Amino acid sequence: MRIDILTIFPGMFDGPFRESMIKRAIDQNLVEINPVDLRQYTEDRHHQVDDSPYGGGRGMIFKPEPLYKAVEDLRSDKTRGGNERVILLTPQGDTFNQEKASELADLKHLILICGHYEGVDERVRLGLVEEELSIGDFVLTGGELAAAVVCDAVVRLLPGFLSVEAAENESFTESLLEYPHYTRPAVFRGMEVPAVLLSGNHAEIEHWRRKQSILRTYQRRPELLSKTELKNEDRIYLDTLKNEQSDQNNVL
Ligand code: ADE
Repeated sequence: MRIDILTIFPGMFDGPFRESMIKRAIDQNLVEINPVDLRQYTEDRHHQVDDSPYGGGRGMIFKPEPLYKAVEDLRSDKTRGGNERVILLTPQGDTFNQEKASELADLKHLILICGHYEGVDERVRLGLVEEELSIGDFVLTGGELAAAVVCDAVVRLLPGFLSVEAAENESFTESLLEYPHYTRPAVFRGMEVPAVLLSGNHAEIEHWRRKQSILRTYQRRPELLSKTELKNEDRIYLDTLKNEQSDQNNVL
């Protein structure tokens, strides 16, 4: 996979991609990530990428020409909707999630555009961008950190990055939150590791973990339960949780 990131602050990516697992993926040629300086695609002396809005008002707007030039230069596949996608990071976009990360991980080439200031000229949306993504309902100073988040979530799903089993077991692939994890020591400041985890009985451990996942999801993100395929015994356990809850409510 190749990911080009169009930005006016390419230096912002020095940190996130030069450490840890993403660095390893780059070193192993699973992915090529290129922060591209948008100012390279300007033609004036001052390398101006922004201008004031028609109709007045505050802030500056990204001009269309440098973005069009850059994307047209970077596109490998000139047809839209192929194995390539041009994405604008903006708080106005669809919310990025694990499902979207998997969808993007199947593509060969991503072009991520990091917005700034008050936004981009609308014609960038109309004629250039294929998808708009937000990483949550908050406003960042620009799209760079959002682009780094999208890259991180996508790259770790690329074939060869994680073992398939690890990727399948974890939170959100099946819409359940993860069970609690413990490592040594067995007792820490009076807090004990649940006995079942020390029992060596793998069937019981699996059973306990599944129940803990359901409990945690029920307590923290109950809306995810409707997206999960539950086995019969899962449903029975969930019903006991719900009954306990309604008993408690009746007491109160
Ligand atoms: N740019 C500014 N805020 C953003 C957000 N929440 N998601 C994506 N891009 C952004």
